[in-house]
Formats: sequence, C-alpha cells, structure tokens
Amino acid sequence: MTLSRREILTGAAGTAVGLAGIGAHPAVGSDAPQKKLAKNQIPFGAAVRGEPLLLDDAYRRALLKYCSIVVPEGALKWIETRPTPDRFDFAKADVIIDFAKANGIEPRGHTLVWYEALPPWTKQISSTGNAERALRFHIEQLVGRYRGVIRSWDVINEPIAEDEIGTENLRPSVWTSTLGERYIEIALRTAAATDPDAQLVINENDLAVSGAKYETRRVAFLQLLRRLKDKDVPLHAVGIQGHLRSDWQQDRDGFQRLLEGIKRLNLDILITEMDVIDQSLPGPETVRDILVAKLVYDFLQTVFEVIRPKSILTWGISDRYTWVPLWFKREDQLANRPLPLDDQMRPKPLLAVIDHFCTSPI
Ligand code: XIL
Repeated sequence: MTLSRREILTGAAGTAVGLAGIGAHPAVGSDAPQKKLAKNQIPFGAAVRGEPLLLDDAYRRALLKYCSIVVPEGALKWIETRPTPDRFDFAKADVIIDFAKANGIEPRGHTLVWYEALPPWTKQISSTGNAERALRFHIEQLVGRYRGVIRSWDVINEPIAEDEIGTENLRPSVWTSTLGERYIEIALRTAAATDPDAQLVINENDLAVSGAKYETRRVAFLQLLRRLKDKDVPLHAVGIQGHLRSDWQQDRDGFQRLLEGIKRLNLDILITEMDVIDQSLPGPETVRDILVAKLVYDFLQTVFEVIRPKSILTWGISDRYTWVPLWFKREDQLANRPLPLDDQMRPKPLLAVIDHFCTSPI
C-alpha cells in the first residue's frame, strides 16, 4: 500500500476504480490482483462489516485496494456465532472470510473470549464445569472451522478491568466469575491444541493513556502476561487496540515501559483496532484530519521507538462505516472522521501516516 504523492495530495487513490466487482456475488469475486508487499513492509488491514461488503461496491473496492488483512468487526463474536449452547452460525463471518480467501487477503479472527457481545443464554452459565465446557467447545469450533485460514486470533479481548478490581485487576465477566484467571489459560491452550500454527493474541485497550488508573492497568497487564509465560501458556503476541481519544493525554514513558516489558517476554506486537475518537477536535474537516493524523503519528512513533509491530489494523477503513458515532457522537452534529478514508473513500492524511510507518525501514 504505497501511495504516490499525487494520490495523497489529490485523493485520487480513493476514486480509482478497481477491476473487481463483476459477478452476481461481488463480495466473493476473486479478480483482484493480490497485493504485493515490499520486503519488510508491515501489512496494513482493517475491520470489516459483512453487509456493506455485499452491498456497497465502493467499500469493497477500497478494502481490495488498501488492505492486506481484514478482521470481522463483529461477525465472529459469540453473539453472532453462538445463538444457542449447541448451535453455531457462521453465515455472517463467512461473507468476510470468503471475500478474504478469494482475494488473497489475510483474515484475522476477533475474538474468542470477551466479557461483551455474549448471547443471552450465557447468563445461565454458573458452574465452573459448564463454563469450561462452553468455552472449550466454542474455541474448538471456531478455530477448528478456520484452521489454516485464520492464522491469527484475538483469543482474549480486554482482560484487564477499567478500574482496580481485586489483586489481579481482571475485568469481571461470566468467565472470571466461574473460572477466575484460569479462563485465559484454558482459552489459549484450547486454541493452541486446535490449531498449533495459529498466532495467539491477547488484545487490550487504552494501554497508552496517561493517569494513575491507566498505569495500574499497564502494570497489571504486564504481570498477567508474565504469569502466562511463566506457566508456558501458548501466547505469541499482544494486540494494542489503539482507539485514540483526542481528549486524553498519552503517557509516552509508561506506554514505552509496557512495550519494553512485552518485548522482553518475546511477544510480538500488533496494532489491532486503531482509530481516533475525534469527538472533541475542532469541526473543520481539513483541520480535524490533520489533528487526527498527528495523534496517530505520535502514537505509532512511540511504539516504533521500542518495537516494530507485525501488522497495523484500523477499526474500519472508511468514515462511512465506523463504530465511533455509536458512543462518541459530536455535539456539533458533524460526522466523526476517525478512519484512513473519508466517507467518499478518499484517502486522508491518516492513511499517509500509516503508510509512512508501514514502509519505514527497519
Ligand atoms: C465494536 C464494534 O465496532 C461495534 O460495531 C459493536 O457494536 C461493538 O463492538 N473494542 C473491541 C471491539 O475489541 O470488538 C469493539 O467493536 C470496539 C472496542
């Protein structure tokens, strides 16, 4: 994904029409040339929604043009894949995974264990035995179904509590209440047993934020990773989400200390869900886009000074489809602009910043 200067300045890249898109089921058309990454280039990708992938040609073309990796934004969560304890539904996920397979794009998996997005029946899980069975079965089914296809999984999502809770600071969920911290080990071991070649990831949010509470979280997170490594639990990488809030300060030193610690544990780093919560930035689009890009520049610079991530993903490709307004609508009613392409699929400065880091020399 190297953009020419002209493309960056004029936004021409976003309007270029690809060759893909002919056929009755456009999302699984396989006529896009496979993206060639330069040697040592960091692959870039984005979270994807199935419905617009099927219905919105411009969106699909943008994904083909810019992404070497895609990750379903919601389609692999329990609430979508596990309607009842015994039934699985992969229809929504397969739209995205088939699109990736047909177009030589690497799919990632998000996520096998989270406190959120659970179907109502999981509220009835109360015994340790039931929880362990449900969790193992779920992971075996999902990882097994996509073995060799999804080669990187967010096995655990957001394990650390927002506020201090107990000694381990684990985020309360049906999994902690039934299994305690052991749920993490069970999940990772089950994933490894089901697909020994998959990259297993623990994904966490708000790791760069300034403030005592966030420092406590960073320490708790690193201690958790250390405990897992001490027990030889299979774990290969840490996912840094990177939902960056323009109204929060980043703690450069604290974040770098964490990254150093992760590096010392021999774990890789992925940037998994980057976007900018631009709620409090000034309204004018050109000004806002520059500030959004600068926030990401500072964030990635902080990371790259310590370690080169193995991949960089944003939580969506275009402002046309983003989760940000669900939670962070602007008071002036202007649309949020958190992502690399605008709502017309035109590249923004943010894309150039990402491209700069992805192609940076080692
Ligand atoms: C979000 C999706 O983007 C929304 O569409 C959905 O309603 C809720 O979940 N951290 C995560 C993601 O790990 O799974 C979340 O995705 C965003 C925050």
